[in-house]
Amino acid sequence: MSSFTDSVVVVTGAGSGIGRTTALEFADRGANVVVADVDSGGGRDTVEAIGDAGGEASFVETDVTDPAAVQEMVDVAVAEYGRLDCAFNNAGIGSEQIPVSEYPAEQWEHIIDVNLLGVFNCMKAELARMKQQDTSDAIVNNSSVLGKVGFEKSSAYTAAKHGVLGLTKSAALENGEAGVRINSVCPAFIDTPLLEKGNVVNDPETLEELKGLHAMNRLGTPAEVAQAVVWLCSDEASFITGEALGVEGGYLSR
Ligand SMILES: NC(=O)c1ccc[n+]([C@@H]2O[C@H](COP(=O)([O-])OP(=O)(O)OC[C@H]3O[C@@H](n4cnc5c(N)ncnc54)[C@H](O)[C@@H]3O)[C@@H](O)[C@H]2O)c1
Repeated sequence: MSSFTDSVVVVTGAGSGIGRTTALEFADRGANVVVADVDSGGGRDTVEAIGDAGGEASFVETDVTDPAAVQEMVDVAVAEYGRLDCAFNNAGIGSEQIPVSEYPAEQWEHIIDVNLLGVFNCMKAELARMKQQDTSDAIVNNSSVLGKVGFEKSSAYTAAKHGVLGLTKSAALENGEAGVRINSVCPAFIDTPLLEKGNVVNDPETLEELKGLHAMNRLGTPAEVAQAVVWLCSDEASFITGEALGVEGGYLSR
């Protein structure tokens, strides 16, 4: 198990689901964690859970669509802990199921703003800081299997998640020589509150159908994604950059 003792890690969307579990995993391995979320209740609960487990974390209320708030998030990491080693740009929202021909443009833009522009805002501020440091750093962006294939009635979400993969690869090319590795994770359906918020799972029948889309016939867990993120940030992944790592139980095997 790789150690992150004294590393400084920012996790966005760390007030719930995959982000919270990943923040706890980094803290468990010794990292100082900056918990960023637009939901201050959820974010503070994560900080408390990390403290209860003997770890170190700070909360910064952050809306990733706001570049000034994102800059503040990076500034807090540096002010509190001296530098920024790793970032998991994970904050995101699900989308309602609406066909392209009926999708309200404002709603479409909002999904893109949070899920794609939000990742850009975070990487911009994080990279500006990391490039001032003489260390090996790592960023992981949370895309989705829906960054690799389409999904009916989810055009905004799939477009944003495909965009995250392009953004990741371009940034990986720009920053590899400077020692910053940048990768994505592409989870399939993971058991978090997002599935309900996005109206993906409304009843037991839909849940069973969703499980059946995976070769393993189940949803993934936030911990399974967290392990992949932590590994991509670790020295064990020292020659991996620009990658889009599936955490998807065989979703894309058919
Ligand atoms: N759950 C899945 O099946 C699944 C699959 C693939 C990818 N993902 C991606 O994983 C990421 C995390 O999702 P989750 O399933 O843990 O969902 P979640 O709803 O449990 O957590 C998402 C968190 O992001 C925060 N957030 C939302 N908008 C924000 C904003 N503008 N600024 C800052 N924080 C914001 C929320 O407050 C919440 O705490 C998302 O990017 C999602 O698209 C999820």
